[in-house]
Amino acid sequence: MTKKQEIIKMGHPTLRKVARELSDSEIQSKEIDELVKSMIKSMRDVGGIGLAAPQVNVSLKLAIIEIDEQDRYDTDIDYGLQVFYNPEITPLTDETQAFWEGCLSVPGLRGLVSRPNKIKVTYKTRDLEVREIIAEGFLATVFQHEFDHLIGKLYIDRISDLQNLGYEDELQKLED
Ligand code: NI
Repeated sequence: MTKKQEIIKMGHPTLRKVARELSDSEIQSKEIDELVKSMIKSMRDVGGIGLAAPQVNVSLKLAIIEIDEQDRYDTDIDYGLQVFYNPEITPLTDETQAFWEGCLSVPGLRGLVSRPNKIKVTYKTRDLEVREIIAEGFLATVFQHEFDHLIGKLYIDRISDLQNLGYEDELQKLED
């Protein structure tokens, strides 16, 4: 049975470290397969759309993303489960867009973050294929948020005006 991993929160030093790349043999190892399985379980248990290995206190360049159509993110993207080994991001434009972001490692808060609205993601699959994805809009933000965890960044570092950081329940009241 796969155990779920505890998700660490802001203040834990691992969240601020630059994660290490995985070697090809590590990518295909049983240990990493187990880690990925437990990350999937942890993410699904709390209804997250992404989880990076540093969030379960493992400083490796690995993240998972799974987006179901979800009202709370006001998006119609349905993006099945994907595992990204050693992902890299290249912005493809200077144009930015702002979305309200939240993070499992910063529970209860939301912040408005501007990021490039078109990016290229390069990563390895478990079969060691190098793949590229061009992402725009909300998906571009999701990738940037998740992969920031691999370089020791949290979304709150990217908020230009801290007035745009607040508790989810208060922000929700404003919306209603
Ligand atoms: Ni996060």
